[in-house]
Amino acid sequence: MHLAWSWKPQDLGVLIGIVTSGARASFAPIRVSRELISEVRDEMLVIIDDYIEDRRFLGVIKGSTKLDIAVDGSALPTTFSPEHSRHYSAPMMRTYVEIFGEISREGGLELSFAIPRPGSHVYAVLDGERLSKILKLPRGLYVGVHKFSGMSIHLDPQAVVYHVAVLGATGTGKSRLVKALVEELLTKTSFSILIFDHTGVDYADTRRWESVGVEPTVIDASRIVLDPSIIASLLNEKMGLSGYHEDKTFYAIVRYVYDEVVRKRPEVIDRAGNRGKRYHEPLTDMDLEMVVNEYFKLCEQRAFSWSYDSFSQALPRYLSEINAREDTIVKYKSLLAVRVGREFFDRYLAPRSVLITNIINALLSGESRLVIVDLSTELEYEAKRYIVYQFLRSVWSVVQSERRPANLVVVVDEAHNYACVHCKPSVTEIARTAREGRKWAFGIVLASQRIVDIAPEVRGNINTVFFSRLQTHSDYQELRNWIEGAQYMEYVLPMLGRREFFVTGLANPLRKPVLIRVRDVV
Ligand SMILES: Nc1ncnc2c1ncn2[C@@H]1O[C@H](COP(=O)(O)OP(=O)(O)OP(=O)(O)O)[C@@H](O)[C@H]1O
Ligand SMILES: [Mg+2]
Repeated sequence: MHLAWSWKPQDLGVLIGIVTSGARASFAPIRVSRELISEVRDEMLVIIDDYIEDRRFLGVIKGSTKLDIAVDGSALPTTFSPEHSRHYSAPMMRTYVEIFGEISREGGLELSFAIPRPGSHVYAVLDGERLSKILKLPRGLYVGVHKFSGMSIHLDPQAVVYHVAVLGATGTGKSRLVKALVEELLTKTSFSILIFDHTGVDYADTRRWESVGVEPTVIDASRIVLDPSIIASLLNEKMGLSGYHEDKTFYAIVRYVYDEVVRKRPEVIDRAGNRGKRYHEPLTDMDLEMVVNEYFKLCEQRAFSWSYDSFSQALPRYLSEINAREDTIVKYKSLLAVRVGREFFDRYLAPRSVLITNIINALLSGESRLVIVDLSTELEYEAKRYIVYQFLRSVWSVVQSERRPANLVVVVDEAHNYACVHCKPSVTEIARTAREGRKWAFGIVLASQRIVDIAPEVRGNINTVFFSRLQTHSDYQELRNWIEGAQYMEYVLPMLGRREFFVTGLANPLRKPVLIRVRDVV
Protein backbone atom coordinates (compact mmCIF):
# COMPACT_ATOMS: atom_id res chain seq x y z
CA MET A 1 0.00 0.00 0.00
CA HIS A 2 1.36 3.36 -1.07
CA LEU A 3 1.29 6.29 1.25
CA ALA A 4 -0.92 9.07 -0.03
CA TRP A 5 0.78 12.23 -1.27
CA SER A 6 0.54 15.06 1.20
CA TRP A 7 0.72 17.70 -1.56
CA LYS A 8 -0.56 18.36 -5.04
CA PRO A 9 1.73 19.51 -7.87
CA GLN A 10 -0.61 22.40 -8.60
CA ASP A 11 0.06 23.69 -5.06
CA LEU A 12 3.61 24.43 -6.19
CA GLY A 13 3.11 25.99 -9.59
CA VAL A 14 1.35 25.90 -12.95
CA LEU A 15 0.75 23.16 -15.46
CA ILE A 16 2.80 24.06 -18.52
CA GLY A 17 2.65 20.98 -20.71
CA ILE A 18 3.18 17.26 -21.03
CA VAL A 19 5.98 14.78 -21.50
CA THR A 20 6.08 13.54 -25.09
CA SER A 21 7.30 10.33 -26.64
CA GLY A 22 10.97 9.44 -26.19
CA ALA A 23 11.36 10.09 -22.45
CA ARG A 24 14.40 8.65 -20.67
CA ALA A 25 15.29 8.28 -17.01
CA SER A 26 17.46 11.36 -17.09
CA PHE A 27 15.93 13.41 -19.84
CA ALA A 28 12.35 13.94 -21.00
CA PRO A 29 11.07 15.84 -24.06
CA ILE A 30 8.23 18.25 -23.29
CA ARG A 31 5.59 19.97 -25.35
CA VAL A 32 4.49 23.25 -23.81
CA SER A 33 0.84 24.25 -24.06
CA ARG A 34 0.20 27.18 -26.35
CA GLU A 35 -1.10 29.54 -23.67
CA LEU A 36 2.04 29.17 -21.58
CA ILE A 37 4.69 29.47 -24.27
CA SER A 38 5.52 32.99 -23.20
CA GLU A 39 5.98 31.95 -19.55
CA VAL A 40 8.41 29.07 -19.90
CA ARG A 41 12.14 29.66 -19.49
CA ASP A 42 15.19 27.47 -19.50
CA GLU A 43 16.37 26.69 -15.95
CA MET A 44 12.89 26.73 -14.41
CA LEU A 45 12.39 23.94 -11.91
CA VAL A 46 9.56 21.56 -12.80
CA ILE A 47 7.63 18.70 -11.28
CA ILE A 48 6.71 15.90 -13.64
CA ASP A 49 3.56 14.28 -12.37
CA ASP A 50 3.32 10.78 -13.81
CA TYR A 51 -0.25 10.18 -12.66
CA ILE A 52 -0.43 6.80 -14.36
CA GLU A 53 2.46 5.19 -12.52
CA ASP A 54 1.89 7.58 -9.62
CA ARG A 55 5.41 8.93 -9.51
CA ARG A 56 6.66 12.48 -9.25
CA PHE A 57 9.96 13.72 -10.59
CA LEU A 58 11.95 16.89 -10.10
CA GLY A 59 13.87 18.40 -12.98
CA VAL A 60 14.85 21.55 -14.74
CA ILE A 61 13.92 22.94 -18.18
CA LYS A 62 16.71 22.93 -20.74
CA GLY A 63 17.20 23.73 -24.40
CA SER A 64 13.80 25.26 -25.16
CA THR A 65 12.98 26.08 -28.76
CA LYS A 66 10.04 27.91 -30.21
CA LEU A 67 8.75 26.41 -33.44
CA ASP A 68 6.03 27.23 -35.87
CA ILE A 69 5.03 24.92 -38.68
CA ALA A 70 3.37 27.78 -40.53
CA VAL A 71 6.32 30.11 -40.19
CA ASP A 72 8.96 27.63 -41.11
CA GLY A 73 11.67 29.29 -43.16
CA SER A 74 11.58 26.78 -45.99
CA ALA A 75 7.79 26.32 -46.03
CA LEU A 76 6.79 29.97 -46.38
CA PRO A 77 5.57 30.92 -49.85
CA THR A 78 7.91 32.93 -52.03
CA THR A 79 5.89 36.03 -51.40
CA PHE A 80 4.41 36.52 -48.00
CA SER A 81 3.33 39.46 -45.98
CA PRO A 82 5.16 40.01 -42.69
CA GLU A 83 2.26 42.14 -41.42
CA HIS A 84 -0.21 39.29 -41.81
CA SER A 85 1.99 36.46 -40.66
CA ARG A 86 0.31 36.24 -37.26
CA HIS A 87 -2.95 35.13 -38.91
CA TYR A 88 -1.43 31.92 -40.15
CA SER A 89 1.03 31.37 -37.28
CA ALA A 90 0.87 28.00 -35.47
CA PRO A 91 3.26 28.42 -32.54
CA MET A 92 4.73 25.52 -30.66
CA MET A 93 7.31 25.16 -27.96
CA ARG A 94 9.43 22.13 -27.49
CA THR A 95 11.74 21.74 -24.59
CA TYR A 96 13.46 19.16 -22.38
CA VAL A 97 13.56 18.39 -18.73
CA GLU A 98 16.79 17.22 -17.20
CA ILE A 99 15.56 14.96 -14.41
CA PHE A 100 17.22 15.39 -10.99
CA GLY A 101 15.46 12.49 -9.36
CA GLU A 102 12.21 11.11 -8.09
CA ILE A 103 10.43 12.79 -5.19
CA SER A 104 9.48 10.23 -2.57
CA ARG A 105 6.19 10.26 -0.77
CA GLU A 106 7.89 10.69 2.58
CA GLY A 107 9.66 13.73 1.14
CA GLY A 108 13.18 13.95 -0.18
CA LEU A 109 14.75 13.35 -3.55
CA GLU A 110 15.98 9.96 -4.72
CA LEU A 111 17.92 8.83 -7.72
CA SER A 112 15.76 6.56 -9.78
CA PHE A 113 15.83 4.58 -12.99
CA ALA A 114 12.11 5.15 -13.54
CA ILE A 115 11.11 6.86 -16.77
CA PRO A 116 8.22 9.34 -16.77
CA ARG A 117 5.46 8.20 -19.07
CA PRO A 118 4.65 10.29 -22.11
CA GLY A 119 1.52 12.19 -21.26
CA SER A 120 2.72 12.98 -17.71
CA HIS A 121 1.90 16.49 -16.61
CA VAL A 122 4.65 19.03 -16.23
CA TYR A 123 4.36 21.85 -13.66
CA ALA A 124 6.68 24.83 -13.48
CA VAL A 125 7.54 25.43 -9.82
CA LEU A 126 6.71 28.90 -8.57
CA ASP A 127 6.65 28.27 -4.82
CA GLY A 128 10.25 27.23 -4.24
CA GLU A 129 10.03 27.42 -0.46
CA ARG A 130 7.22 24.87 -0.37
CA LEU A 131 9.22 22.61 -2.69
CA SER A 132 12.27 22.94 -0.47
CA LYS A 133 10.20 21.64 2.47
CA ILE A 134 8.84 18.75 0.42
CA LEU A 135 12.36 17.84 -0.65
CA LYS A 136 13.48 18.14 2.99
CA LEU A 137 16.52 20.06 1.88
CA PRO A 138 18.89 20.63 4.79
CA ARG A 139 19.65 24.12 6.00
CA GLY A 140 23.22 25.29 5.54
CA LEU A 141 25.11 28.17 4.02
CA TYR A 142 22.54 30.47 2.47
CA VAL A 143 23.93 32.22 -0.61
CA GLY A 144 20.88 32.97 -2.70
CA VAL A 145 17.68 31.72 -4.28
CA HIS A 146 16.83 29.73 -7.37
CA LYS A 147 16.24 32.35 -10.09
CA PHE A 148 12.68 31.36 -11.06
CA SER A 149 11.14 29.57 -8.11
CA GLY A 150 12.70 31.65 -5.36
CA MET A 151 13.73 28.48 -3.52
CA SER A 152 16.49 29.31 -1.01
CA ILE A 153 19.64 27.45 -1.85
CA HIS A 154 21.52 26.26 1.20
CA LEU A 155 24.95 24.77 0.66
CA ASP A 156 26.43 21.97 2.68
CA PRO A 157 29.08 23.52 4.98
CA GLN A 158 31.09 20.30 5.06
CA ALA A 159 31.71 20.60 1.32
CA VAL A 160 33.87 23.65 1.83
CA VAL A 161 36.87 21.48 2.70
CA TYR A 162 36.43 19.85 -0.69
CA HIS A 163 37.09 23.32 -2.05
CA VAL A 164 35.12 25.86 -4.04
CA ALA A 165 35.68 27.82 -7.25
CA VAL A 166 33.76 30.92 -8.35
CA LEU A 167 34.12 31.73 -12.03
CA GLY A 168 32.70 34.49 -14.18
CA ALA A 169 33.54 37.43 -16.38
CA THR A 170 34.44 40.69 -14.72
CA GLY A 171 31.59 42.33 -12.83
CA THR A 172 29.39 39.23 -12.60
CA GLY A 173 29.51 39.40 -8.80
CA LYS A 174 32.15 36.83 -7.87
CA SER A 175 33.59 38.77 -4.97
CA ARG A 176 30.13 39.44 -3.50
CA LEU A 177 29.27 35.76 -3.78
CA VAL A 178 32.50 34.84 -2.03
CA LYS A 179 31.69 37.34 0.68
CA ALA A 180 28.23 35.79 1.10
CA LEU A 181 29.88 32.41 1.55
CA VAL A 182 32.39 33.76 4.06
CA GLU A 183 29.65 35.53 6.07
CA GLU A 184 27.76 32.26 6.28
CA LEU A 185 30.84 30.30 7.32
CA LEU A 186 31.57 32.85 10.04
CA THR A 187 28.06 32.81 11.47
CA LYS A 188 27.12 29.16 11.02
CA THR A 189 30.34 27.17 11.39
CA SER A 190 33.49 27.26 13.48
CA PHE A 191 35.84 27.71 10.52
CA SER A 192 38.26 30.60 10.68
CA ILE A 193 38.75 32.49 7.44
CA LEU A 194 41.84 33.94 5.79
CA ILE A 195 41.17 36.15 2.76
CA PHE A 196 43.77 37.34 0.29
CA ASP A 197 42.39 40.56 -1.12
CA HIS A 198 44.33 41.23 -4.30
CA THR A 199 42.88 44.65 -5.02
CA GLY A 200 42.12 45.76 -1.48
CA VAL A 201 38.66 46.98 -2.52
CA ASP A 202 36.60 43.85 -2.07
CA TYR A 203 37.08 42.80 1.54
CA ALA A 204 39.51 45.07 3.37
CA ASP A 205 36.96 47.73 4.35
CA THR A 206 36.10 46.72 7.93
CA ARG A 207 32.73 48.55 7.86
CA ARG A 208 31.46 46.00 5.39
CA TRP A 209 31.77 43.29 8.05
CA GLU A 210 29.83 45.12 10.76
CA SER A 211 26.58 43.28 10.15
CA VAL A 212 28.32 39.92 10.55
CA GLY A 213 29.42 40.61 14.10
CA VAL A 214 32.96 39.35 13.64
CA GLU A 215 35.82 41.77 14.04
CA PRO A 216 38.17 41.35 11.06
CA THR A 217 41.90 41.80 11.32
CA VAL A 218 43.20 43.57 8.24
CA ILE A 219 46.85 43.02 7.47
CA ASP A 220 48.74 45.48 5.32
CA ALA A 221 50.86 43.20 3.12
CA SER A 222 53.61 45.80 2.85
CA ARG A 223 54.26 45.26 6.56
CA ILE A 224 54.71 41.50 6.35
CA VAL A 225 58.23 40.29 7.09
CA LEU A 226 59.66 38.50 4.09
CA ASP A 227 61.76 35.40 4.29
CA PRO A 228 65.44 36.04 3.30
CA SER A 229 65.07 33.69 0.35
CA ILE A 230 62.19 35.80 -0.96
CA ILE A 231 64.24 38.96 -0.58
CA ALA A 232 67.09 37.34 -2.52
CA SER A 233 64.70 36.29 -5.23
CA LEU A 234 63.23 39.80 -5.50
CA LEU A 235 66.74 41.25 -5.75
CA ASN A 236 67.66 38.83 -8.52
CA GLU A 237 64.55 39.75 -10.38
CA LYS A 238 65.24 43.46 -10.07
CA MET A 239 68.90 43.14 -10.98
CA GLY A 240 68.06 40.88 -13.90
CA LEU A 241 70.29 38.09 -12.61
CA SER A 242 69.57 34.49 -13.29
CA GLY A 243 71.00 31.00 -13.04
CA TYR A 244 74.44 30.75 -11.56
CA HIS A 245 74.51 34.29 -10.17
CA GLU A 246 71.32 33.83 -8.15
CA ASP A 247 73.23 31.93 -5.49
CA LYS A 248 75.55 34.85 -4.88
CA THR A 249 72.63 37.13 -4.11
CA PHE A 250 71.21 34.54 -1.78
CA TYR A 251 74.53 34.28 0.02
CA ALA A 252 74.87 38.04 0.31
CA ILE A 253 71.40 38.38 1.85
CA VAL A 254 71.88 35.56 4.32
CA ARG A 255 75.26 36.98 5.20
CA TYR A 256 73.74 40.39 5.82
CA VAL A 257 71.01 38.87 7.97
CA TYR A 258 73.64 36.98 9.90
CA ASP A 259 75.76 40.08 10.51
CA GLU A 260 72.72 42.02 11.68
CA VAL A 261 71.71 39.22 14.05
CA VAL A 262 75.27 39.02 15.43
CA ARG A 263 75.34 42.75 15.93
CA LYS A 264 71.97 42.91 17.70
CA ARG A 265 72.00 39.55 19.49
CA PRO A 266 75.59 38.38 20.00
CA GLU A 267 74.50 36.23 22.97
CA VAL A 268 72.16 34.14 20.82
CA ILE A 269 74.84 33.37 18.30
CA ASP A 270 77.21 32.37 21.12
CA ARG A 271 74.57 30.20 22.76
CA ALA A 272 74.01 28.24 19.62
CA GLY A 273 77.58 26.99 19.71
CA ASN A 274 78.76 29.39 17.09
CA ARG A 275 81.10 31.19 19.48
CA GLY A 276 83.91 33.01 17.83
CA LYS A 277 82.34 32.89 14.42
CA ARG A 278 81.55 36.54 14.27
CA TYR A 279 82.47 38.62 11.29
CA HIS A 280 84.39 37.53 8.26
CA GLU A 281 83.55 33.88 8.72
CA PRO A 282 82.01 31.75 6.00
CA LEU A 283 78.54 30.55 6.92
CA THR A 284 78.63 26.99 5.68
CA ASP A 285 78.68 25.25 9.07
CA MET A 286 76.50 27.78 10.86
CA ASP A 287 73.10 27.01 12.43
CA LEU A 288 71.20 29.05 9.86
CA GLU A 289 67.75 28.09 11.05
CA MET A 290 68.51 29.72 14.36
CA VAL A 291 69.82 32.82 12.60
CA VAL A 292 66.68 33.09 10.47
CA ASN A 293 64.43 32.61 13.51
CA GLU A 294 66.29 35.37 15.25
CA TYR A 295 65.90 37.58 12.17
CA PHE A 296 62.11 37.16 12.37
CA LYS A 297 62.11 38.00 16.07
CA LEU A 298 64.20 41.11 15.52
CA CYS A 299 61.92 42.24 12.71
CA GLU A 300 58.91 41.78 14.93
CA GLN A 301 60.52 43.98 17.57
CA ARG A 302 61.46 46.48 14.86
CA ALA A 303 65.08 45.97 15.82
CA PHE A 304 66.36 44.59 12.55
CA SER A 305 67.61 47.22 10.17
CA TRP A 306 67.64 46.88 6.42
CA SER A 307 69.92 49.60 5.19
CA TYR A 308 71.03 50.20 1.65
CA ASP A 309 74.25 51.85 2.79
CA SER A 310 75.26 48.97 5.06
CA PHE A 311 74.38 46.31 2.50
CA SER A 312 76.11 48.02 -0.38
CA GLN A 313 79.19 48.65 1.74
CA ALA A 314 79.44 45.04 2.92
CA LEU A 315 78.61 43.51 -0.46
CA PRO A 316 82.21 43.32 -1.82
CA ARG A 317 83.30 41.55 1.36
CA TYR A 318 80.43 39.03 1.18
CA LEU A 319 81.08 38.29 -2.46
CA SER A 320 84.81 37.84 -2.00
CA GLU A 321 84.10 35.31 0.79
CA ILE A 322 82.64 33.09 -1.88
CA ASN A 323 85.47 33.84 -4.27
CA ALA A 324 83.56 36.10 -6.64
CA ARG A 325 85.77 37.71 -9.25
CA GLU A 326 86.58 41.37 -9.11
CA ASP A 327 84.49 42.16 -12.21
CA THR A 328 81.50 40.28 -10.80
CA ILE A 329 81.70 42.33 -7.63
CA VAL A 330 81.77 45.57 -9.59
CA LYS A 331 78.84 44.42 -11.69
CA TYR A 332 76.85 43.52 -8.57
CA LYS A 333 77.51 46.83 -6.91
CA SER A 334 76.51 48.83 -9.91
CA LEU A 335 73.38 46.78 -10.61
CA LEU A 336 72.41 47.22 -6.98
CA ALA A 337 72.79 50.97 -7.27
CA VAL A 338 71.11 51.37 -10.64
CA ARG A 339 68.36 48.76 -10.63
CA VAL A 340 67.55 48.34 -6.96
CA GLY A 341 68.52 51.47 -5.10
CA ARG A 342 67.99 52.86 -1.67
CA GLU A 343 64.21 52.75 -1.89
CA PHE A 344 64.09 48.96 -1.84
CA PHE A 345 65.98 48.63 1.43
CA ASP A 346 65.02 51.74 3.31
CA ARG A 347 61.38 52.05 2.28
CA TYR A 348 60.32 48.62 1.03
CA LEU A 349 62.08 46.23 3.43
CA ALA A 350 62.72 48.33 6.51
CA PRO A 351 59.15 48.92 7.80
CA ARG A 352 58.18 45.23 7.89
CA SER A 353 57.35 43.84 11.31
CA VAL A 354 54.30 41.58 10.94
CA LEU A 355 55.00 37.86 11.22
CA ILE A 356 52.94 35.41 9.22
CA THR A 357 53.39 32.72 11.87
CA ASN A 358 51.68 34.93 14.47
CA ILE A 359 48.70 35.49 12.20
CA ILE A 360 48.42 31.79 11.42
CA ASN A 361 48.65 30.83 15.09
CA ALA A 362 45.85 33.24 15.93
CA LEU A 363 43.70 31.79 13.14
CA LEU A 364 44.38 28.16 13.99
CA SER A 365 43.72 28.67 17.68
CA GLY A 366 40.41 30.37 16.85
CA GLU A 367 41.56 33.59 18.51
CA SER A 368 41.07 35.33 15.12
CA ARG A 369 38.04 34.28 13.10
CA LEU A 370 38.67 36.52 10.12
CA VAL A 371 41.94 37.83 8.73
CA ILE A 372 42.09 39.84 5.52
CA VAL A 373 45.46 40.32 3.89
CA ASP A 374 45.36 43.48 1.80
CA LEU A 375 47.78 42.65 -0.99
CA SER A 376 47.19 45.89 -2.86
CA THR A 377 49.80 47.62 -0.72
CA GLU A 378 52.48 45.13 -1.68
CA LEU A 379 54.26 46.74 -4.61
CA GLU A 380 56.28 43.80 -5.86
CA TYR A 381 54.16 41.48 -7.92
CA GLU A 382 56.36 38.51 -7.19
CA ALA A 383 56.23 39.19 -3.47
CA LYS A 384 52.42 38.91 -3.51
CA ARG A 385 52.75 35.31 -4.61
CA TYR A 386 55.45 34.66 -2.07
CA ILE A 387 53.25 36.01 0.67
CA VAL A 388 50.38 33.68 -0.28
CA TYR A 389 52.88 30.84 -0.46
CA GLN A 390 54.37 31.68 2.92
CA PHE A 391 50.93 31.80 4.58
CA LEU A 392 49.86 28.44 3.20
CA ARG A 393 53.18 26.85 4.08
CA SER A 394 52.90 28.18 7.55
CA VAL A 395 49.47 26.55 7.96
CA TRP A 396 50.80 23.25 6.67
CA SER A 397 53.78 23.39 8.95
CA VAL A 398 51.53 23.72 12.03
CA VAL A 399 49.06 21.12 10.81
CA GLN A 400 51.81 18.62 10.15
CA SER A 401 53.83 19.12 13.26
CA GLU A 402 50.81 19.14 15.59
CA ARG A 403 48.75 16.71 13.49
CA ARG A 404 45.51 18.52 14.14
CA PRO A 405 42.78 19.90 11.88
CA ALA A 406 43.24 23.44 10.66
CA ASN A 407 39.54 24.30 10.69
CA LEU A 408 40.42 27.03 8.26
CA VAL A 409 39.14 28.26 4.92
CA VAL A 410 41.46 30.31 2.74
CA VAL A 411 40.01 32.61 0.09
CA VAL A 412 42.09 33.61 -2.92
CA ASP A 413 40.23 36.18 -4.99
CA GLU A 414 41.62 37.15 -8.39
CA ALA A 415 43.07 33.66 -8.31
CA HIS A 416 44.51 33.92 -11.82
CA ASN A 417 47.39 35.77 -10.17
CA TYR A 418 48.13 32.97 -7.72
CA ALA A 419 46.78 29.67 -9.01
CA CYS A 420 47.81 29.70 -12.67
CA VAL A 421 50.25 27.13 -14.02
CA HIS A 422 53.08 29.67 -13.98
CA CYS A 423 52.19 31.23 -10.64
CA LYS A 424 55.08 29.80 -8.70
CA PRO A 425 55.50 29.41 -5.82
CA SER A 426 51.91 30.12 -4.67
CA VAL A 427 50.34 27.60 -7.06
CA THR A 428 52.37 24.77 -5.54
CA GLU A 429 50.89 25.33 -2.08
CA ILE A 430 47.40 26.01 -3.47
CA ALA A 431 47.58 22.70 -5.33
CA ARG A 432 48.71 20.92 -2.19
CA THR A 433 45.87 22.44 -0.19
CA ALA A 434 43.38 21.43 -2.88
CA ARG A 435 44.82 17.90 -2.88
CA GLU A 436 45.26 17.23 0.81
CA GLY A 437 43.26 19.92 2.61
CA ARG A 438 40.11 17.94 3.29
CA LYS A 439 41.88 15.51 5.61
CA TRP A 440 42.81 18.46 7.79
CA ALA A 441 39.63 20.54 7.55
CA PHE A 442 41.54 23.03 5.43
CA GLY A 443 39.44 24.39 2.56
CA ILE A 444 40.23 26.77 -0.24
CA VAL A 445 37.94 29.10 -2.18
CA LEU A 446 39.23 30.46 -5.49
CA ALA A 447 37.57 33.23 -7.51
CA SER A 448 38.71 33.97 -11.03
CA GLN A 449 37.58 35.42 -14.33
CA ARG A 450 38.98 32.65 -16.43
CA ILE A 451 38.97 28.90 -16.00
CA VAL A 452 42.24 28.45 -17.88
CA ASP A 453 43.93 30.57 -15.26
CA ILE A 454 43.45 27.93 -12.61
CA ALA A 455 46.07 25.23 -13.03
CA PRO A 456 44.55 21.85 -13.97
CA GLU A 457 46.07 20.16 -10.92
CA VAL A 458 44.19 22.63 -8.72
CA ARG A 459 40.97 22.46 -10.73
CA GLY A 460 40.88 18.68 -10.53
CA ASN A 461 40.47 18.82 -6.77
CA ILE A 462 37.75 21.45 -6.56
CA ASN A 463 34.39 19.87 -5.93
CA THR A 464 31.96 22.78 -5.84
CA VAL A 465 31.85 25.25 -8.70
CA PHE A 466 29.87 28.44 -9.21
CA PHE A 467 29.98 29.80 -12.71
CA SER A 468 28.38 32.66 -14.54
CA ARG A 469 28.85 34.33 -17.89
CA LEU A 470 32.41 33.66 -18.94
CA GLN A 471 35.06 35.81 -20.50
CA THR A 472 35.90 33.99 -23.72
CA HIS A 473 34.85 31.17 -26.00
CA SER A 474 37.74 29.01 -24.85
CA ASP A 475 36.40 29.25 -21.30
CA TYR A 476 33.17 27.59 -22.42
CA GLN A 477 35.20 24.80 -23.91
CA GLU A 478 37.13 24.37 -20.66
CA LEU A 479 33.88 24.38 -18.74
CA ARG A 480 32.49 21.59 -20.91
CA ASN A 481 35.52 19.47 -20.15
CA TRP A 482 35.22 20.14 -16.46
CA ILE A 483 31.54 20.24 -15.54
CA GLU A 484 29.15 17.43 -16.28
CA GLY A 485 26.15 18.65 -18.27
CA ALA A 486 27.66 22.05 -19.12
CA GLN A 487 26.58 21.64 -22.74
CA TYR A 488 22.92 22.03 -21.70
CA MET A 489 23.68 25.44 -20.30
CA GLU A 490 25.50 26.75 -23.30
CA TYR A 491 22.62 28.87 -24.60
CA VAL A 492 21.81 30.31 -21.23
CA LEU A 493 25.27 31.15 -19.88
CA PRO A 494 25.96 34.16 -22.11
CA MET A 495 22.60 35.64 -21.09
CA LEU A 496 23.21 35.56 -17.36
CA GLY A 497 23.00 38.85 -15.58
CA ARG A 498 24.96 40.16 -12.65
CA ARG A 499 24.60 38.01 -9.50
CA GLU A 500 23.40 35.02 -11.50
CA PHE A 501 25.46 31.86 -11.12
CA PHE A 502 25.05 28.18 -11.66
CA VAL A 503 26.08 26.15 -8.67
CA THR A 504 27.16 22.59 -9.07
CA GLY A 505 29.02 19.93 -7.16
CA LEU A 506 29.21 18.62 -3.63
CA ALA A 507 27.88 21.62 -1.76
CA ASN A 508 24.75 21.82 -3.92
CA PRO A 509 21.94 19.91 -2.21
CA LEU A 510 20.31 19.11 -5.58
CA ARG A 511 23.59 17.79 -7.00
CA LYS A 512 22.77 18.97 -10.54
CA PRO A 513 23.61 22.52 -11.64
CA VAL A 514 20.95 25.03 -10.58
CA LEU A 515 20.74 28.70 -11.45
CA ILE A 516 20.79 31.00 -8.46
CA ARG A 517 20.51 34.67 -7.86
CA VAL A 518 22.96 35.65 -5.13
CA ARG A 519 21.41 37.31 -2.09
CA ASP A 520 22.14 40.92 -1.23
CA VAL A 521 25.67 41.38 0.01
CA VAL A 522 27.09 44.68 1.22
N1 LIG B 1 25.19 39.89 -4.24
C1 LIG B 1 25.28 41.19 -4.52
N2 LIG B 1 24.67 42.10 -3.73
C2 LIG B 1 24.76 43.41 -4.02
N3 LIG B 1 25.45 43.91 -5.07
C3 LIG B 1 26.06 43.06 -5.90
C4 LIG B 1 26.02 41.66 -5.66
N4 LIG B 1 26.72 41.06 -6.62
C5 LIG B 1 27.20 42.03 -7.43
N5 LIG B 1 26.80 43.24 -7.00
C6 LIG B 1 27.12 44.52 -7.66
O1 LIG B 1 27.95 44.26 -8.78
C7 LIG B 1 29.24 44.84 -8.63
C8 LIG B 1 30.31 43.84 -9.10
O2 LIG B 1 30.36 42.76 -8.21
P1 LIG B 1 31.75 42.07 -7.82
O3 LIG B 1 32.76 43.08 -7.46
O4 LIG B 1 31.44 41.03 -6.83
O5 LIG B 1 32.11 41.44 -9.24
P2 LIG B 1 33.37 40.54 -9.63
O6 LIG B 1 32.85 39.44 -10.46
O7 LIG B 1 34.13 40.19 -8.42
O8 LIG B 1 34.19 41.52 -10.56
P3 LIG B 1 35.77 41.55 -10.86
O9 LIG B 1 36.04 40.41 -11.78
O10 LIG B 1 35.93 42.86 -11.53
O11 LIG B 1 36.46 41.40 -9.56
C9 LIG B 1 29.35 45.19 -7.16
O12 LIG B 1 30.14 46.32 -6.97
C10 LIG B 1 27.92 45.43 -6.74
O13 LIG B 1 27.56 46.74 -7.04
MG1 LIG C 1 36.06 40.55 -7.81
